[in-house]
Amino acid sequence: VIKACLFDLDGVLVDTAKYHFIAWRELAEELGFVFTEQDNERLKGVSRAASLNILLEIGGLEFDEAEKARLAEQKNNRYVEYIAKMDSSEILPGALSFLKECREVGIKVALGSASKNAMTILNNTGLTPYFDAIIDGTHTSAAKPDPEVFLLGAQAVSVPAEHCVVFEDAEAGILAANRAGMSSVGIGSPETLAEANFVVPSLAQISVAKLQELFAAV
Ligand code: BG6
Ligand code: MG
Repeated sequence: VIKACLFDLDGVLVDTAKYHFIAWRELAEELGFVFTEQDNERLKGVSRAASLNILLEIGGLEFDEAEKARLAEQKNNRYVEYIAKMDSSEILPGALSFLKECREVGIKVALGSASKNAMTILNNTGLTPYFDAIIDGTHTSAAKPDPEVFLLGAQAVSVPAEHCVVFEDAEAGILAANRAGMSSVGIGSPETLAEANFVVPSLAQISVAKLQELFAAV
């Protein structure tokens, strides 16, 4: 039986993956190289500092730590400008009704996000009240695929890992769920999320009944 749903934020509940992409692409442009949507897959679910390292590797560039901190801040300042304008219209299809349904039937709801901007996004979109626990990039020390963020989420809602299901759009996030000993549902394409137990295009294909049916064995 599934007793807790742990949600990634960017690309699962809200359409912020596009803002991360745009902000990184702008930085790459300024540094003089092209950063494609395919490159961007490698950044999904990855922390800001690790994302910058991947971006610089793609561009074939090296900087010292102080300069890297400045570049990460530059990207984040731009990203923050985008998310400041967000509202509930940017909640992804099916997300709100599924969150409501979980709460109605008593399934615990937790956030497991790498982002340090998670609270701004949850507040601007009105999603904050739907969570029993919120674990984000300000609470974690190890980035996905490390399971820390989801283990902390499960602990916060007092549900053992085997009764938790993680919803993720990033490969690193699915690996984190697997390492945490949790079930997983990939949101996106089966090619990028091959390690997930199931993959659906969006949360619009998910309901509590569907979930209990998919994970009848747990
Ligand atoms: C993840 C995103 O949710 O958060 C990554 O998928 C992002 O793309 C990471 O780098 C960290 O986010 P932030 O807001 O702290 O820069
Ligand atoms: Mg994500």
